[in-house]
Amino acid sequence: MSLTELIDESAVIVCSGSGGVGKTTIAAVIAIEAAKRGRRSVVVTIDPARRLADALGLDNLTNEPQVVAIPGSPASFSALMLDTAATFDELVHRYSVDSTQAEKILANRFYRNVTGALSGTQEYMAAEKLFALHHDERFDLVVVDTPPTRNALDFLDAPGRLTRFLDHRIYRALTTPTRLGLKIANVAAQTVLKTIGRIVGGDVIADVIAFFQAFEGMEGGFKQRATEVIELLHSDTTHFVLVASPRSDTITEACFFADRLNEQGLRVSGVVVNRLYPLFAETSGAAETPDTSDSPTTTSSDAATSARGAPKRTTDASEQALRDNLTELRGVAAEERAVLAPLLAVAPIAALAEIPLLDHDIHDLEGLGIIGGHLLVDVTRV
Ligand SMILES: Nc1ncnc2c1ncn2[C@@H]1O[C@H](COP(=O)(O)OP(=O)(O)OP(=O)(O)O)[C@@H](O)[C@H]1O
Ligand SMILES: [Mg+2]
Repeated sequence: MSLTELIDESAVIVCSGSGGVGKTTIAAVIAIEAAKRGRRSVVVTIDPARRLADALGLDNLTNEPQVVAIPGSPASFSALMLDTAATFDELVHRYSVDSTQAEKILANRFYRNVTGALSGTQEYMAAEKLFALHHDERFDLVVVDTPPTRNALDFLDAPGRLTRFLDHRIYRALTTPTRLGLKIANVAAQTVLKTIGRIVGGDVIADVIAFFQAFEGMEGGFKQRATEVIELLHSDTTHFVLVASPRSDTITEACFFADRLNEQGLRVSGVVVNRLYPLFAETSGAAETPDTSDSPTTTSSDAATSARGAPKRTTDASEQALRDNLTELRGVAAEERAVLAPLLAVAPIAALAEIPLLDHDIHDLEGLGIIGGHLLVDVTRV
């Protein structure tokens, strides 16, 4: 499947990769290109630096989708920034039996202070938001940006972890007392709580118990939701796109993630290699390959042209400098392609896109448009 087909046919696209490779940028570009092709797309970003909000010309992205017009196109797309705490609050409202239960939980100190900081909460809420938007009639494609690779594994694991937690003995022990009408029914749990209480203080324990007791009756809804989220991640219309830059450390992390996806029966459908140096035309041989790259580094192709069958003449110092520059850039471009090879091997069926390193940061919709122009050019694997 080509990237264009992916954009045309997916219901969900998850963009993953290690820190700083361009996940947020690529997720936004996918949503924009999809909108231009007639899809009703929304991108969920996880971008505390708010670089994307800046690039979209929005002072602030919120937890609710905002419509963004695309310059030079009648199309528009929607964007939002994940707010973990607000999304968790929405879930509590959804699954509480009544507003009293919801308020009790939302006001609980343990809930307020601890749940947001628990590992995996952000990832679970990203998956949750994805699920909610997938069922939102305004959209037919949801593009999700994720936190850096190793955490992105939590994104896959989080819904299952919540289910396992709700089945856990300690959780059951904590919620059992109300069922039996006793203060603490389970002796083992009582011992554990006393020990923890000595370390963190009795008040904290009281908050935790109050939280779980208030939570009672909601776990069925939460578990059901987690199961549905897992199913959505495994659905045929959900696709994973790995974003990587051509550096061995980010490629190693991307390979690790691709392996984990493969293990779980999820497929990497697209690989986007961002910030590449272009391949320059060969100077030897009869065939000439035009250099069509718009990278800022291509000015040195003049040196290549002068070398092709031109009458032999003395090279001055500046021409020699250009030649040396070209040789060096060719070396870098070739090394970058070599570094990519292991990633392409673990993602054998993935469509490949190569995005050049631009000479400026992407700070507006125009910059995102330039990246979009490269994204949909399918690259033939060599
Ligand atoms: N091809 C490119 N050429 C030049 N600059 C780029 C390119 N792609 C992305 N950038 C810039 O690199 C920076 C990082 O990109 P981005 O925020 O998309 O990465 P990220 O993977 O989401 O980072 P994080 O892991 O911190 O969330 C941004 O300032 C962006 O404008
Ligand atoms: Mg980001």
